[in-house]
Amino acid sequence: MLAVFLSLSLPAISLASRDEEPETTMQQMQLLQHQLALERAEERRLKEAQPLHWIHFPKTGSSFVNTITHLPGTCPSLANHALNEDTVGGGACWLSRWLEQCQGVCNVDKYSCPQPCHVHYPVSNYSAQRGHLVGMFRDPDQRILSGYHDDANNFAAYTEDNFNQDFGGKCKGEVLEKVPKKPLLEFAETWKGGMTYQLVMEHPITLTVNPSRPKVTLRDALEAARRVREGFAFVGLTEQWDLSICLFHKMFGGPCHAFEFENTRPSYAGKSADQDYDTAQLQGWHDDIDEVVYAAASEVFRRNLILFNVSKETCEEFCSH
Ligand SMILES: *[C@@H]1O[C@H](CO)[C@@H](O)[C@H](O)[C@H]1NC(C)=O
Ligand SMILES: *[C@@H]1O[C@H](CO)[C@@H](O)[C@H](O)[C@H]1NC(C)=O
Repeated sequence: MLAVFLSLSLPAISLASRDEEPETTMQQMQLLQHQLALERAEERRLKEAQPLHWIHFPKTGSSFVNTITHLPGTCPSLANHALNEDTVGGGACWLSRWLEQCQGVCNVDKYSCPQPCHVHYPVSNYSAQRGHLVGMFRDPDQRILSGYHDDANNFAAYTEDNFNQDFGGKCKGEVLEKVPKKPLLEFAETWKGGMTYQLVMEHPITLTVNPSRPKVTLRDALEAARRVREGFAFVGLTEQWDLSICLFHKMFGGPCHAFEFENTRPSYAGKSADQDYDTAQLQGWHDDIDEVVYAAASEVFRRNLILFNVSKETCEEFCSH
């Protein structure tokens, strides 16, 4: 803290000696005190939230791992090294490859690497994780369309048989590359309520991307929405990626890195996460279960934008430091 204070107060002192007006010095000091108070609040908020438990719903943005792991002191050996398909390798399975190293690289007091290291691991013990959960949420129909059109993972080719097959450590998406997709509406039914599933099914024996996973109900969605409101230290929206990353840093501190704002793996060339899929493909089908969860997430997100003074304008200034 002393070091922070010194580095902040030095410019003020040099400014004061150049400029003799006492009012300017006073204003500078007040600004510095304000900045220090903000930094203390960020530090305290982050301490309370740690260890962070990231719940990663499929197709909400794997690159969020960068924001978590590059918080100061979290995974120190990563330094300014971005995690993505190019730096980790493993094609569409890069995140799962990286998570295998997670425990050896990251401080368990700061980030709780999912164990077993499944990328889309659900909430595993809500009463213990409450207040530590972080995650990005996405419009449910868009999430499902993105999953369907993700040719690298080819989730839409998953069947009960090939899902449980052992591909000897090979990435499933690679093995299933040429396997035809099932019809969209059939796929949509298997992904329906997927965010709800990860939020309420503790210790499930079937993972969320398993096409035979149990269905969830509206009652489950209401509980999931309650957990979003009460159990999450951070809620972001995939559609509002840049504002979400900025909000995260305004809440918890740490520098904004340029690579946090990059979509590491668009579903197909030219597609970026802030472009919507045409929902007409769903012919009126709609995920009315996860809709409840997404509404809760949007509400929390918008409230925090106001609370932390996050906007396109404030973020350009905040993240350019
Ligand atoms: C969940 O966490 C609580 C509090 O840490 C602990 O008492 C309980 O045993 C845990 N439950 C399971 C099923 O691991
Ligand atoms: C929000 O940030 C802007 C730009 O930094 C600042 O001018 C404004 O006073 C802030 N508003 C609040 C309520 O903190």
